[in-house]
Amino acid sequence: MTLTRDLDSTTAALDPLGADAVMRALPQANIAADTAWLRTRAEHLSRTAASIRDVAPARAALRDLGLITASLARHTGRPVPPPAVEAAMLHLGATADEVPRETVYSYATRNPRGPRRRSFTDTPGEHVFIDEVTAASHALDDAIRHCADLPAAANREEADALAASVHERLRDFAARLLTVKRTLTPQYFTGLLRPYYPPLDIAGTTYFAPGGAQMPLLVLDVMLLSQAATGNLAAWYEKYLTDNILYLPPHHRATVAEARRTPGLARLARRHPHLRPAVALLIDDLLRFRLPHRQLARDNMAVRDDGSLGSGGYTTSALDRLLDVTDSARALLSPGSPL
Ligand code: HEM
Repeated sequence: MTLTRDLDSTTAALDPLGADAVMRALPQANIAADTAWLRTRAEHLSRTAASIRDVAPARAALRDLGLITASLARHTGRPVPPPAVEAAMLHLGATADEVPRETVYSYATRNPRGPRRRSFTDTPGEHVFIDEVTAASHALDDAIRHCADLPAAANREEADALAASVHERLRDFAARLLTVKRTLTPQYFTGLLRPYYPPLDIAGTTYFAPGGAQMPLLVLDVMLLSQAATGNLAAWYEKYLTDNILYLPPHHRATVAEARRTPGLARLARRHPHLRPAVALLIDDLLRFRLPHRQLARDNMAVRDDGSLGSGGYTTSALDRLLDVTDSARALLSPGSPL
């Protein structure tokens, strides 16, 4: 199975646009809201982008051009990039086999550490945010790898041992959220960072900014919860998946596409009782992340205008629905539940 950690650490090391110095200067330009500097730098880097032909350099270039373009949109309030930048992002997206802008992978797992770190504000809180989302994504990647073997577990012992490995990673993932919750106040996140995650309109399509809905939890979610919900909730979940899968790298898109066509582990466990304790443990792990996360999102929405959206374009009602989907999967594991 492809490991995001390996692919993305290769990308993190690359600077195909020769943008290290520009990216170091980005936070200063953002403090000054220097839109002329941002536009000129974005246009200049776009010229170099045209010659990029390979996947990893295209992803590294999208990371850098994307962060500058998002900064420009944040300060101008205009979601459409300058024409030369839009053309470069389209070329890079096609070469990278990904959306034509930066994603949560660009901002986290493909973002170098140390002096080459890319950030909008160079504030300690943003570095904690990037570090924790990166570590959370690596934990999820490992969890996906172990979880993939669970449907084939031959007996209770095998299933429980695999689930224990996934459980360990999901606990780490949830702990990262708690670190962010303890460190970043809603005023800081919503007031300073959130404006740098605007939607961009590229070739007439709206692409959302890096955000949690693009994290590899989506992959694990489908492995566990596929076909667990019914009726309107199932239809809502299918649309949520379709909308967000777009932002994943190809290896994760392929895993989700496959997993959503077949019953997830919660459904499988109805027919295979030896899987039940393992699956129950993991669904409880999802809840142990989702409940405090929804509270964090609500605390942030409380300091925003009514009707504000998360960077993925959702209100917290999406988080309620995801909890409903998770609960419906949990309910499938109770012996007397209807099919
Ligand atoms: C710091 C403040 C944070 C706020 C205000 C926040 C808010 C939100 C909102 C509103 C959504 C719904 C989708 C959207 O519109 O973007 C969302 C989704 C998500 N967020 Fe966060 N989030 C925060 C931090 C984090 C952190 C640190 C993590 C991971 C460690 C995380 C992981 C997720 C995930 C995985 C989703 C997809 C929904 C799910 O699977 O339950 N978030 N977040």
